[in-house]
Amino acid sequence: PKRVRTRHFQNAKQQGIPITGLTSYDMLTAQIFDQAGIDFLLVGDSAGNNVFGYETTLPVTVDELIPLTRAVARAVTRALVVADMPFGSYETGPSEALHTAVRFMKEAQAHAVKLEGGVRSRKQISRIVSAGIPVMGHIGFTPQSEHGLGGHMIQGRGAGAEQLITDALAVQDAGAFAVVLEMVPSGVAAEVTERLEIPTIGVGAGPGVDGQLMVWTDFAGMTGGRVPRFVRQYANLRSVLTDAVHSFKNDVDSGAYPGPEHSYE
Ligand code: KIV
Ligand code: NA
Repeated sequence: PKRVRTRHFQNAKQQGIPITGLTSYDMLTAQIFDQAGIDFLLVGDSAGNNVFGYETTLPVTVDELIPLTRAVARAVTRALVVADMPFGSYETGPSEALHTAVRFMKEAQAHAVKLEGGVRSRKQISRIVSAGIPVMGHIGFTPQSEHGLGGHMIQGRGAGAEQLITDALAVQDAGAFAVVLEMVPSGVAAEVTERLEIPTIGVGAGPGVDGQLMVWTDFAGMTGGRVPRFVRQYANLRSVLTDAVHSFKNDVDSGAYPGPEHSYE
């Protein structure tokens, strides 16, 4: 298959073809999602929660994400692989941001990077883009600034709508090829989508955006406990695996496994 490039994102928006993305943190899920035709795979810093067992994304490091990104990049034949720049790897300025982006491109063979923030990150975005590295923006609820935002909250309500539009335009003007809108009201997300030339990718942003992104462990029902309102669970892998593990354990306890067909003469 022909590789997805940033120009595919632009064409998709112009032609009204929805863009699909999932997170992936390893080779096997990357292969499955790529072969199913998902357009881009995000090696999210949500690996903090879903791989490393942290409570938030804040402790995640570049050194932790690089091996996961490399595994995903090696697995795909079509999907565009986006490396998420973790907290503490770009905030101090454009040089630090470019340094981090280069590491993801060089050490992990990512195809693009993503970083959080609108106006506050425009210099970083523009420096990375100038070096020939595509950038996906991320505004609305930005988990890395959870403490600054005062918790897990919908962004862009009331007066926040104007700020969201300002941030979206800043990300576009800085040269990003797409922007993630996380947890924003559908109406505002639709308005941002209309105002922008680059595609908007929604995570809890309703139907009026150019693409949809989900955290794979949420969409496949792998995560234990509650998932956010915006998640539709397309499978219940956690219960499938739980049942499998119970069956294995019971069979070993009862002597039903291994049978002769699993044993060597
Ligand atoms: O890390 C992540 O999975 C993300 C998406 C939820 C946007 O940044
Ligand atoms: Na992220």
